[in-house]
Amino acid sequence: QAIYRKDYTAPSFLVDTVDIGFDLDPITTRVATRLTMTRNPDSVNQNIVLNGEALELVQLRMNGKLLTKRGYTLQGGILQIPDAPDQVVLEIETLTHPEKNTSLMGLYVSNGNFFTQCEAEGFRKITFFPDRPDVMAKYTVMLRADKKKYPVLLSNGNLVEQGDLGDGRHYAKWEDPFKKPSYLFALVAAKLVCQEETYQLKSGRKVLLQVWVEKGNLDKTQHAMESLKHSIRWDEERFGLELDLDRFMIVAVGDFNMGAMENKGLNIFNTKFVLANPRIATDVDYANIESVVGHEYFHNWTGNRVTCRDWFQLSLKEGLTVFRDQEFSADMVGTASGRAVKRIEDVRLLRQVQFAEDAGPMAHPVRPDSYVEINNFYTVTIYEKGAEVVRMVQTLVGRDGFRKGMDLYFARHDGQAVECDDFRAAMADANRRNLKQFERWYSQAGTPQVKAETSYDPLAKTFEITLSQTCAATPGQAKKLPFHIPVAVGLLDAEGKDLVLHCDDGASAGVAGTLVLELTKAKQTFRFTQVNEQPVPSLLRDFSAPVVLEYDYSDAELALLLAHDSDPFNRWEASQRLAMRRLVKLTDAARNNEQLTLDPMFIDALRGVLMDDTLDPAFRELVLTLPSEAMVAEQFSVVDSQAIHAARQFMRGMVAQGLRTELLNAYETNLTPDAYSPDAEASGKRGLKNLALSYLLEWADESTCQLALAQFDTAHNMTDRQAALSALLNAESKAATKAASKSLKRFYKDFKNEPLVIDKWFMLQGMAHATDVAAMRALMTHPAFTLKNPNRARSLIFSFCNANPARFHAADGSGYAFWAEQVIALNAINPQVAARLVRSLDRWRKYAPKAQELMLLALQKVANSKKLSKDVQEVVSKSLAA
Ligand code: ARG
Ligand code: ZN
Repeated sequence: QAIYRKDYTAPSFLVDTVDIGFDLDPITTRVATRLTMTRNPDSVNQNIVLNGEALELVQLRMNGKLLTKRGYTLQGGILQIPDAPDQVVLEIETLTHPEKNTSLMGLYVSNGNFFTQCEAEGFRKITFFPDRPDVMAKYTVMLRADKKKYPVLLSNGNLVEQGDLGDGRHYAKWEDPFKKPSYLFALVAAKLVCQEETYQLKSGRKVLLQVWVEKGNLDKTQHAMESLKHSIRWDEERFGLELDLDRFMIVAVGDFNMGAMENKGLNIFNTKFVLANPRIATDVDYANIESVVGHEYFHNWTGNRVTCRDWFQLSLKEGLTVFRDQEFSADMVGTASGRAVKRIEDVRLLRQVQFAEDAGPMAHPVRPDSYVEINNFYTVTIYEKGAEVVRMVQTLVGRDGFRKGMDLYFARHDGQAVECDDFRAAMADANRRNLKQFERWYSQAGTPQVKAETSYDPLAKTFEITLSQTCAATPGQAKKLPFHIPVAVGLLDAEGKDLVLHCDDGASAGVAGTLVLELTKAKQTFRFTQVNEQPVPSLLRDFSAPVVLEYDYSDAELALLLAHDSDPFNRWEASQRLAMRRLVKLTDAARNNEQLTLDPMFIDALRGVLMDDTLDPAFRELVLTLPSEAMVAEQFSVVDSQAIHAARQFMRGMVAQGLRTELLNAYETNLTPDAYSPDAEASGKRGLKNLALSYLLEWADESTCQLALAQFDTAHNMTDRQAALSALLNAESKAATKAASKSLKRFYKDFKNEPLVIDKWFMLQGMAHATDVAAMRALMTHPAFTLKNPNRARSLIFSFCNANPARFHAADGSGYAFWAEQVIALNAINPQVAARLVRSLDRWRKYAPKAQELMLLALQKVANSKKLSKDVQEVVSKSLAA
């Protein structure tokens, strides 16, 4: 039941206009549409083809005539009408049941209000329609609903008419002046209020901006509004792209499968990515809101004005838009080190989640060749690796060249549904660059491994870097061809200063002291001349390509890079290499029940960074943060989660012991007593201070527990309050356990009316090492827990299965049995969320035979359960496949 990219055919009919009317009612909503359609001369298929799912068809008329059952076929969600004339007016009346719709796709009810989610294929749950992104039409929408219950009626575009219907109901008519694919349709009918503002664009034109929320949340919209204004300004300045509507709305909804959705003029957001004030949101929440608001806003051009021809091209809009939101966030911080912090955070996510995906059974290219359920392909590969691929283009053509390419892309494709190849062609043509080989980044899955070897010739004063690349097989792709890989390098002298570089072997200029080597063959040597001393290479600066780079650094070389590299990313990278090689050894030792030891050199290197006041606190925090257990797991072909946990905890303890004075000092010098602000400087200080606190609690005695308790009690923001609670929860001592349980109760009591904070409450417990499966089952009986709300389900279940590996992988297999139960329960409620949870076990082959057996049992239990959704079915069967 897979569909293939190579099977693409043009739509048989194009839709010019859509008139769609809703009689909104939670039990049964009547939807009446009128489509004007024209035969597509490019199509081989003669029939009108419409998609429809979970719909009751009331009547169907073609050019005014009722179509009886003999006039069409309806099979497997596809309605076909043969023998249609070239010009057609279709009138369709259908019924749907929004309140029963727990999938949160199509039209559904959340907390008594109506919302829609149509990407990727949700519009077909609203009406029969050619529900594919290359069918673009102009929409007019009529909403009718009870006036008291749903005072606010919103849809895409402009409000053109509204009024009373007399019977306690009212209506609103919306018109979207832009053609769009059905996945960008949206409506909201709700009891909501908004923060609004008139905003002047650089051109002088004024637009209305609104953030819609439930009444009690109006004190939490300011940051989203600020982020929206910053996004509008940034896209004007960096890309010359202006908001094309007179009105732009953001609506928050508590039940939502993903982060947010870029519906034209009416972005719908998970509350998690809108609502913030210092009391309920952390620094991380603030940063996420800024980036998601930016992301959805930027889609207006990269996604909406130019959209995807088919869903295989998803990364055309997602990779590009993630790249744009990453750049936006970096520019909002402004400083070089602030940009580096953002870059490091993005790379951490890529390595931990995307590299793992690339190495598992769900590995797929940035532009997949096939899928069973498209919702399963909203992945870190499409999004984050896709963004890296776009970033590499910018590295290859330069920032100005990238802008030229963007301009050409819009000049050529505005208003069209296109392919990833079209983006690449625009970039190549605008810069007269050959990006043919670069296409392999779109077509080949897997993370390339790049090996570097160097040799210095003191007589000739030359330094050679030999780079070779390989890429492991992935499902369906046994052999890979060489990628076009930009490798940014610098050479450091003995003092750690950048040498001036001379190299003629296919290198292009980067930042001063950095050259971009273009690796295009399996193996290539780059020769640097006029190198007067043996240098230390700084390789893959700013993470110039999404690859694993191997080079046999000595500890001393890493220490030099950590202390001096002009590239802040590689300073951080050096710290992670130092930590990782030790964690790998410690894990082996822990597995063999050997004595664990850590050399003082490592502690000294960390001390140097911690004490360096010239470095931003945010950067120091990143250096002092050890690679996660999941990252360590990636280094092993057979994972032992308990040994990894023991190794990392041991290292944390040693760092805490070795740097106790310095950590206390960092704690005290990074307090932020002033009124809360989420800016980079203040949040950086809190980050470092709270990391220090968590280390200090490795010695959870009276004094450190007091420190955490005091912070918990007196915190004037959620960042500090949550950090204190988390530190207590993860500390292992009687005193800490007591303090943690008291604080948990207090936290719940104080925030029981704030769902997003209760999510944090569940999340912290799901992740805590003390939480085993029995504790999880107890937490699930808490009255505030429900599987129906995706945020709540994720906060507890996903955090346990994905972020508590030592407990989830308990030797008795209890974690796996628990997982299977939850997948099966979720499958009946919300297939998309269920399928995401399946991913927690997709790498079962990486564990010891005994564990594999238990995981296999759990996977098979899911596979054999009844009424499996396509979503879950696909991930389970791919996980089980050889
Ligand atoms: N296009 C949205 C975004 O990236 C994501 C929507 C995904 N929805 C889904 N049901 N798969 O902002
Ligand atoms: Zn997106």
